[in-house]
Amino acid sequence: MLPGALLFLAATALGLLQPWPLKLVVDSVLGPIPAPGPLASQPPVTLLAILCFAIVLLQLVVGALTTLSTNLLVGLGLRLVFKLRCILFEHVQKLSLAFHDTTSVGDSLYRVTWDSYAPQALVNSAIIPALSASLTLAGIGAVMLTRDWALTMAAAAVAVPLFLLIRRLDRPLTAHSLELRARESDVSTRVQETLSSIRAVQAFGREAYEHARFQHQARQSLRASLRLTVLQTASQAVVGLLMAVGTAAVVWIATRRALDGRLTAGDVVLLVGYVVMLYKPLETLASIAVAVQGGMAGSRRVFAVLDATPDIADAPDAVALPRRAAGQIVLERVWFAYRGGEPVLRDVSLAIRPGQALALVGGSGAGKSTLASLLLRFYDPTAGRILLDGQDVRRLTLRSLREQVAVVLQEPVLFAASIRENIAYGRPEASREEIEAAARAAGAHEFVTALPQGYDTRIGERGATLSGGQRQRLAIARAFVKDAPVLVLDEPTSALDAETERALVDVLERLMKHRTTMIIAHRLSTIRGADRIAVLSDGALVETGTHAELLARSATYARLYSLQFGMTPARRS
Ligand SMILES: Nc1ncnc2c1ncn2[C@@H]1O[C@H](COP(=O)(O)OP(=O)(O)OP(=O)(O)O)[C@@H](O)[C@H]1O
Ligand SMILES: [Mg+2]
Repeated sequence: MLPGALLFLAATALGLLQPWPLKLVVDSVLGPIPAPGPLASQPPVTLLAILCFAIVLLQLVVGALTTLSTNLLVGLGLRLVFKLRCILFEHVQKLSLAFHDTTSVGDSLYRVTWDSYAPQALVNSAIIPALSASLTLAGIGAVMLTRDWALTMAAAAVAVPLFLLIRRLDRPLTAHSLELRARESDVSTRVQETLSSIRAVQAFGREAYEHARFQHQARQSLRASLRLTVLQTASQAVVGLLMAVGTAAVVWIATRRALDGRLTAGDVVLLVGYVVMLYKPLETLASIAVAVQGGMAGSRRVFAVLDATPDIADAPDAVALPRRAAGQIVLERVWFAYRGGEPVLRDVSLAIRPGQALALVGGSGAGKSTLASLLLRFYDPTAGRILLDGQDVRRLTLRSLREQVAVVLQEPVLFAASIRENIAYGRPEASREEIEAAARAAGAHEFVTALPQGYDTRIGERGATLSGGQRQRLAIARAFVKDAPVLVLDEPTSALDAETERALVDVLERLMKHRTTMIIAHRLSTIRGADRIAVLSDGALVETGTHAELLARSATYARLYSLQFGMTPARRS
């Protein structure tokens, strides 16, 4: 940081020398005034050659110093951005679902990708340019003062209103460019939203409607762009005019003094050169407030993310479970409410013995998925405890707890990667044979080998290139590979047709063997392999028992059953 900043300041200081060769040309080559120091004895043509060379050399050195220092400083800033992004990404991944439930993906995305630039911008485009601009201004002021104080006052008389004008223009200019950016982002959001729902758009024949909406957004963007251009060109014209007034004043005063013999002709050239140089540092200083504000706003957004502590984290005294849990699960009087909401689970007590399967049934919104996510510790109960092998899950390390649980969800989550990588997602070190065995067990091997590239076939984002049943089989294969003692199946077949479901139920039963399972299903045919069934209604456990017991006892279960299978309560197959 320091070497870069010093080089930058050196470049700025040397830049102040740039008007000098021309002054000497006017004074000593064209005019009668002897050049300073050893240059005095040179014949005019040699002097001219030296001065011309000096113009080039000065630019060469200033350019080299600027390039070097900018690269050093910006490189440093960019590496800072890199580190910050990595830290942010790691942190955001760890934040609990309670955070992600209330923060949109787009917002987190923006913070990690764009706001992470803010601290760099603060240093590279606010602090260092401000230092350099102040130095330039001070240098110009000092040189001018040594020539003529009245002239310096004249230049300042232009510089002050110029500074104020630029400052005043900065706010609307920034507001307009922010407006433009917002409109541009709307345009791309429209495109993204339409393209990602292109099936629905085409199926419902809404292309014309979407086009109209797009046109509306694009027109807003066009207007914002035009307004910004008008403002930019107009303000440039005004600033240019003010600069011309300032230059004219300096030319007027300096030339009058030169005529009186108090300044040389070269001094006039020198002073006019400096007045022209005034504009850039003034502009920098005038816009610094906005740059700082922007940088601070972005930094605040970054640090807000970093300050959010994952409320689900390892307890200080958390222990790791030994390699493999037996799989006994006990819920003791569990209550749960999502952040600030009504209780979603009320006083639920349950026990699943190792290797047994419990089916959770109940209407939509009863709290089944919520219960399953408590098992994985996506959330912690508001009251009560959840025990795995007799240990409160909050006393276990998150890693060792989640290693014990494999999940298959209704909407299988697949990544844009090869089929092999997708199956091995829960255990990347799994061998080829293990992956294939899992695929066979899940009934996926056949369709995978029929694909042109077999297990190396890359599947589209979210598995778009596969059918629902195929995706579900891959998700089940993934659970086989993970080979965890506890299994959570959240409506793993409800998106499938009856025939595919029947085939998958066999596969699921193979998976459930020797594992403690919690299976959630709307279709009672899916849960025929469960040892016990628990009926959840509005967050409360109304009944548990075997299929036969529940048919006899539970009105809710009997109703569910008769809805699906007609009134005859058939024997369980
Ligand atoms: N992330 C969340 N934040 C706030 N409330 C939630 C959240 N997820 C679910 N809920 C609410 O909690 C209640 C239970 O939801 P849950 O998803 O557990 O139901 P479910 O029994 O799985 O239903 P379904 O059969 O439709 O999947 C619902 O009222 C739902 O609105
Ligand atoms: Mg659910």
